[in-house]
Order: sequence, then C-alpha cells, then structure tokens
Amino acid sequence: MNSHGETIIEVNDLVRRFGDRAVLNNISFNVHRGEILVIMGGSGCGKSTLLRHMIGSMKPTSGSVKIFGEEITAMKEREVERVRLRLGMLFQSGALLASLTVGENVALPLMQHTKKSPDEIERIVRQRLEMVGLTGFEDLKPDEISGGMKKRVGLARALALDPELLFSDEPTSGLDPIMTAVVDQLTLKLTQGSHMTAVVVSHDMTSAFRIATRMIMLGHGSIVAQGTPDEIRNSSNPEVQQFIHGEPDGPIPLNLSQEEHKDHSHVKPRPFFRARGRFHRKTG
Ligand SMILES: Nc1ncnc2c1ncn2[C@@H]1O[C@H](COP(=O)(O)OP(=O)(O)O)[C@@H](O)[C@H]1O
Ligand SMILES: [Mg+2]
Repeated sequence: MNSHGETIIEVNDLVRRFGDRAVLNNISFNVHRGEILVIMGGSGCGKSTLLRHMIGSMKPTSGSVKIFGEEITAMKEREVERVRLRLGMLFQSGALLASLTVGENVALPLMQHTKKSPDEIERIVRQRLEMVGLTGFEDLKPDEISGGMKKRVGLARALALDPELLFSDEPTSGLDPIMTAVVDQLTLKLTQGSHMTAVVVSHDMTSAFRIATRMIMLGHGSIVAQGTPDEIRNSSNPEVQQFIHGEPDGPIPLNLSQEEHKDHSHVKPRPFFRARGRFHRKTG
C-alpha cells in the first residue's frame, strides 16, 4: 500500500561501534511516507541506538542516514535542530522534565519553537493530552503519575508540533492492554492518508502486528528479517519465530549479557565504595 510512497528515510550501511563492539553492523533500510515501520528485537540489540542515529543525536562510525533527502550524519547541531522541528520523538524513558508539570512538559516544544499565544498553546496542550487519554492531568508533576502515564505525556509532547515523522521508543511498555490499544489507534489514525510517518520500536508483539505496515527485526547488530507483518508471521527463520512467539528455547542465545560484559572492557571501572562516599556527603 505505502511501499511506493516517497522515501523519507534512507539508512545505508550504518555502522556504530562502542569500543571494539559493533552494536549496529551494516544496517540498510528505507522508510516511506505514511507507513508505520516497527523495529523489533531483543533487549540490548541496538534499537534505541538506531533511533538515535536516525534523529541525528548520535553520529555513526560509518554509513549514511538521509532524512527528508538530507544527510543528517554530516549536519552541525544547528542544522539537526532545523530538521528536528519536523520530527516528534518519544524516548524510551519518557524523558520528562521533573520540575515542570505535565502541561508544561507538553507545552515546551511549542514555547521553544513557535510564536503561538499562551491561549493557543494551552488549547493545543489540552488537545494533545486528550488524544492520549490524559485530560485533567495538566497540573501534576511527572513524579505524581504512573510510568505508563509518563509514556503518554511523552507521546503528547512528541505530537505537540504536529510532526511529519514520529519516532516512538517502546511507546506501549508499561501500558495496560486498553491503553496500548488507544495508543496504537492514535498512531494508526495519524498515519492514515499519509499525513504522518512513524518508526516505532516495540517488543509488544500484539501491538507491533496491529500497527505495522512493515517490520524489521534486529539481532547481532544486523537485520535478521524484514517484511510485511504477514511475511514476518510466516517467516521460516527460527530466530523470528522464537521472538514473535516469545519462546525461551531457540537460536537466540540467553547469555548475551555475558558477551556484552566482555565487550564493555573499555569502560573504566569505578570502585563501589566511592558511591557510598557520595551518598554520605549528600544526605549527611
Ligand atoms: N553510549 C554508549 N556507550 C557504550 N555502549 C552503549 C552506548 N549506548 C548503547 N550502548 C550499548 O549498545 C547496546 C544496544 O543498546 P540499545 O540501543 O539501548 O539497545 P535496545 O534499545 O535494543 O535495548 C547495549 O549493549 C548498550 O550497552
Ligand atoms: Mg531501547
């Protein structure tokens, strides 16, 4: 359906190493206008790192990311900022500012990047919070709401500037099945008629299959499989089958963290007792 739409993201031979370890290893794919691309894969396989490269907040070791036809990997921060006005980003943690209220968090991009009047901003904030089912929560602080609610505030903020392109990092983790369906329906509605394009990281398979136009599965820093939801569902690749059915036994190893640990040898160790020193100073 959307596979013939305009290409708005082109990732080519993207490589990112941390120390000696290639977290992203020769990744190439395109995203077309109006589609919902779901990126899935085990914890720690590089999904968030891939998103960070797509929004220009991390620079690759090598390779290219073109967004709206422009090479984002070669841009200076100021140019990246200009491109970001066309993007919405929901971070995995929600990334809300703790000192601001829910409403102020959602208003932030509007205050920073537009000349809209306070009344207009208030109207948009209410409307975005209504979209994510949080009418009436404007005046609470992030500490006073649940994890799933923070996620939805993050989504309302990502949608504040009415983006052409939305990046969502695990938007439904911590949400109950009904709220998951609400967020999924919202993503579907916003992409209908090619108005918005979405790149969604998810390991919630119900949600992924409900929204995806196309899916990419990452593993060992590479693309293990990609295709339509039907192609993924019917994939003969045992890793894909293990992942989408959540089976404990299969080709995906459980000892990934061991391997990771070995590869983090470039990080300088810090003795734990130093943390105790800090703790005493702060509270004492
Ligand atoms: N800034 C960094 N420095 C060193 N290693 C990192 C950094 N960011 C991510 N990594 C490593 O890259 C791997 C992939 O991380 P991430 O992209 O967050 O995984 P995912 O989102 O798929 O769970 C992890 O092993 C993580 O430790
Ligand atoms: Mg992640």
